[in-house]
Amino acid sequence: MRNTGILPTEQDAARERHPAAAGQAPEPDSQAQRAALRVENLSAWYGRKLAVADVSLDIAANSVTALIGPSGCGKSTLIRTFNRMHEFAPHARVEGRVLLEGVNVYDPGIDPARVRQRIGMVFQKPNPFPTLSIAENVAAGLRFLGVRSRAEIGDRVETALKLAALWDEVRNDLKKPGIALSGGQQQRLCIARAIAVEPEIILMDEPCSALDPVATLKIEDLMRGLAERYTIVIVTHNMQQAARVSDATAFMLMGEDGAGHLIEYRPTQELFTRPQDRRTEDYITGRFG
Ligand SMILES: Nc1ncnc2c1ncn2[C@@H]1O[C@H](COP(=O)(O)OP(=O)(O)OP(=O)(O)O)[C@@H](O)[C@H]1O
Ligand SMILES: [Mg+2]
Repeated sequence: MRNTGILPTEQDAARERHPAAAGQAPEPDSQAQRAALRVENLSAWYGRKLAVADVSLDIAANSVTALIGPSGCGKSTLIRTFNRMHEFAPHARVEGRVLLEGVNVYDPGIDPARVRQRIGMVFQKPNPFPTLSIAENVAAGLRFLGVRSRAEIGDRVETALKLAALWDEVRNDLKKPGIALSGGQQQRLCIARAIAVEPEIILMDEPCSALDPVATLKIEDLMRGLAERYTIVIVTHNMQQAARVSDATAFMLMGEDGAGHLIEYRPTQELFTRPQDRRTEDYITGRFG
């Protein structure tokens, strides 16, 4: 086994800390593991610029899938195509299919708001609604969905905050502004907000890059726990993080056409210890990027 420098021992330790993740990482394309999301020949443009070229991959349910690759290779663009957030960009366009429970989210008649409820998103910078309290931040999506009962909202806020491992820290401060929390707490608040509407998949775009190491570890632990209920996709620049938290890793790279291509997609441990593609090996051993 080649040592690519991504500390397999650290990864093993992480897996021991999370017995649910023990054993074989899922084969991304194995029939045994249900695909929560199937991406087929997906290309994405900004105007005439092709940003992501012909990506196909299956995201296994109840697992953490990491997306790595150098800056500008299309990681954020790709995940934003999964829940139709890409189309918020001017002149944005998508070709290909994203199948959620076998239904293409780009089919005519599909409500993009419903897609975004089923596939939630957490961003790089914690972004609580600045004027809302902690509880109101978590409840915001529920109100948007038309939930009116105060009792139900209260229950679901509490459940979401518990799932986001924030409840114990904020239970007595629910009326305080969300932005009064620390950065790490704000990010968990945003995770609670995403969870509250009961999504199936949660996309996280570099969720720890604005956080200190302690807050980062908390979010990583949280992700492993959340994978028991949800399917998590995380974009990260931090390869140790990908090795620690993910079951499968996808490596993307910008091609000579200037667009992002999927180079290799395999169980995390294999990708980091026995990369099949020379470009993956060069990247994970720090030769570029
Ligand atoms: N809103 C936009 N309008 C036009 N081009 C964009 C837009 N967002 C991204 N791009 C371009 O698409 C390509 C892919 O960008 P993207 O943000 O997806 O990369 P990334 O892998 O997430 O990078 P990073 O690691 O820096 O976040 C880049 O060339 C970028 O300049
Ligand atoms: Mg990005």
